[in-house]
Amino acid sequence: MGRKLRIEVLRYNPLDPASTPHMQTYHLEEHPSMTLFVALMQIRETQDPTLQFDFCCRAGICGSCGMVINGRPGLACCTQTRDLPDHIVLHPLPVFKLVGDLSVDTGSWFRNVGTRIESWIHNNKTFDENAQEDRMENELAVQIFELDRCIECGCCIAACGTARMREDFMGATTINRMARFCLDPRDNRDVQDFYELIGNDQGVFGCMGLLGCEDVCPKKLPLQDQLGIMRRMLALHSVKNIIPRSILNKMEKKCGCQDKHK
Ligand code: SF4
Ligand code: SF4
Ligand code: FES
Repeated sequence: MGRKLRIEVLRYNPLDPASTPHMQTYHLEEHPSMTLFVALMQIRETQDPTLQFDFCCRAGICGSCGMVINGRPGLACCTQTRDLPDHIVLHPLPVFKLVGDLSVDTGSWFRNVGTRIESWIHNNKTFDENAQEDRMENELAVQIFELDRCIECGCCIAACGTARMREDFMGATTINRMARFCLDPRDNRDVQDFYELIGNDQGVFGCMGLLGCEDVCPKKLPLQDQLGIMRRMLALHSVKNIIPRSILNKMEKKCGCQDKHK
């Protein structure tokens, strides 16, 4: 016999004028290897078909099932109930537009920041369907792939103090994305281009550096490193005209993207 779980969920339907935010409690029996996603499905199938939450892959790939689990953003499908106390409290991710209950619209948020940073390879080659693939060193391809693993779940944004206070802040996921294009030799943008996109307090200079983002990222992306590299590169770029060359040379040695963007 498993534990008796008490699961409290914030219920609210913003489209229903009669709906008011309130907590609703469900009880169910835990079974071995139960994930929070399975628990919510069981509640929806056996107790309350109106409960809203998102999922798709059930395997930590699609990024749909992000929610605040006992105060900490995480993925319901990757969270085992046995790792939680028997009293579980669930809220929707903050910052994103609420669809209802635990369901939020991360898609519009990510589309918006993706457009703001022009999240695509910039080069002036004409597309040739018969051309050979661009070749790339394995080591560099692996570095780019490492940053491309973001599943856009929104957990890092929900955990970010700056994003909670300022809706124009682009967050660690966006800076990570920019770092990915910065590494990519097929992208012709230079440091000035990156500076214009994220060299402000909506981007790298708005970050308070407390690293809640990296702590909660379910894909364990190196957000701290990317924030540091991009901030250092853009800070250096912003003062390079007033710093003597000899000092600049020493500083550039510490900048992650200096090879591409000298
Ligand atoms: S380190 Fe920066 S981006 Fe990450 S949670 Fe803190 S303020 Fe947000
Ligand atoms: S960086 Fe991590 S926490 Fe943030 S959206 Fe991507 S996968 Fe989710
Ligand atoms: S359902 Fe896809 S990440 Fe959880």
